[in-house]
Amino acid sequence: MADKEIDRVSGTETTGHEWDGLKELNTPLPRWWLWTFYATIVWAVFYWILMPSWPLVNDYARGIRGQSQRAIVMEQVAALKDMRARTGAALADASLQDIQADPGLLDFAMANGRAAFGDNCAPCHGAGGGGAVGYPNLVDDSWLWGGDPDAIHQTILYGIRSAHEETRFGDMPAFGRDELLDSGQIRSAANYVRSLSGLDTEAGADLAGGEAVYLDNCAVCHGDDGKGMQEVGAPNLTDGIWLYGSDLDTVVHRIRVGGGGVMPPWVDRLDPVTIKSLAVYVHSLGGG
Ligand code: HEC
Ligand code: HEC
Repeated sequence: MADKEIDRVSGTETTGHEWDGLKELNTPLPRWWLWTFYATIVWAVFYWILMPSWPLVNDYARGIRGQSQRAIVMEQVAALKDMRARTGAALADASLQDIQADPGLLDFAMANGRAAFGDNCAPCHGAGGGGAVGYPNLVDDSWLWGGDPDAIHQTILYGIRSAHEETRFGDMPAFGRDELLDSGQIRSAANYVRSLSGLDTEAGADLAGGEAVYLDNCAVCHGDDGKGMQEVGAPNLTDGIWLYGSDLDTVVHRIRVGGGGVMPPWVDRLDPVTIKSLAVYVHSLGGG
């Protein structure tokens, strides 16, 4: 190792390190850098004194300010709970119409309803309420059982064809399985039903016969004009919106097996405020 010396070109002292004839200059740190460095040390000392910083054996140094992020969060959570409890109590007392008329309550109910929908309803009705085969679309303003807030509330409370005694019910007869109609009549009726929403019919389909079958067997529930009946959950067959699909085979199958989808009741599983919030939220999706 060579000795320290003064470099002739820069006039700076070298460190004495040398590799293959290259010598390392011992250039002093810039002043501003040094002062910043000292300042951070001073800052750190004050910080240790003021704030919780050092771990101790069983605890930690709390600092003179005794600040605790945990305590701050707990306070905020308590304040939020308090606010929720107050709004929740207001919601519990309000009617669905009152909630819709009050922007503060409405906001709260919508947020609450949206979250509860994601947790409980989306598996069947889809994340945005778009539905699937057999699970109704809730955003299209076409309702099997009624789309005003009270009707929706009732549906959510007690379900549809559920085990609850207040459930909504109304089953379509199994016209084929129970031999109420023969397969020719079913096919004609299916063609007639498709014609109600402007879909094409099979070549040679007996539409007049289908209409007669319809008026005798189906109109009690689906209406003379095919517009459906919400008291028994019979869908409108003229609006081009299908719960199970519009192709001829699907319609024939539906007439053969009848029945109806089951929606669970929520009255025993969710609290009243959540159910109200859900009714308001679902109504906002496609209420009419
Ligand atoms: C297990 C699946 C399932 C779950 C979960 C479910 N539903 Fe349903 N829901 C159905 C089915 C099936 C129907 C249609 C029943 C029928 O054919 O009439 C339905 C119908 C409805 C209707 C009536 C639609 C109309 O056109 O009148 C509403 C409103 C509704 N559900 C809301 C909800 C809400 C809100 C939740 C969550 C709390 C929920 N559903 C959870 C299966 C489900
Ligand atoms: C007792 C009442 C009742 C009678 C009678 C009835 N239906 Fe229905 N129908 C329903 C109900 C309720 C549904 C809905 C089933 C569900 O929600 O899962 C339905 C559903 C349908 C569907 C499926 C609609 C869709 O959107 O996918 C078709 C098609 C249909 N009915 C045709 C007929 C025809 C044709 C007849 C006569 C041969 C008939 N129905 C008689 C109550 C009835």
